[in-house]
Amino acid sequence: MERYQITIINRDAVFSCKAGQSLLGGVVSQRQKAIDVGCRGGGCGVCKIRIISGDYESKKMSIKHVSADELAEGLALSCRIFPNSDMVIEALD
Ligand code: FES
Repeated sequence: MERYQITIINRDAVFSCKAGQSLLGGVVSQRQKAIDVGCRGGGCGVCKIRIISGDYESKKMSIKHVSADELAEGLALSCRIFPNSDMVIEALD
């Protein structure tokens, strides 16, 4: 199965995601703590990250957690992002 390499530039962390797995799912499956984990379903907003580069599919995200302005700046909920290529992201503090 295809795996994509995900680099978190400001955490000095690299992990891999299987095709069809969410970014957050990849982090959790490798027991990394680079991204905060909450509901894993788009409901709490704690897993928010910034996408620097890479192709991905995004499931619907509530504007309660990611506003249109934030979306335009590359912010997204990592539990709703499904990589289609290697990606570079930034964790938010
Ligand atoms: S973990 Fe709750 S929105 Fe992603």
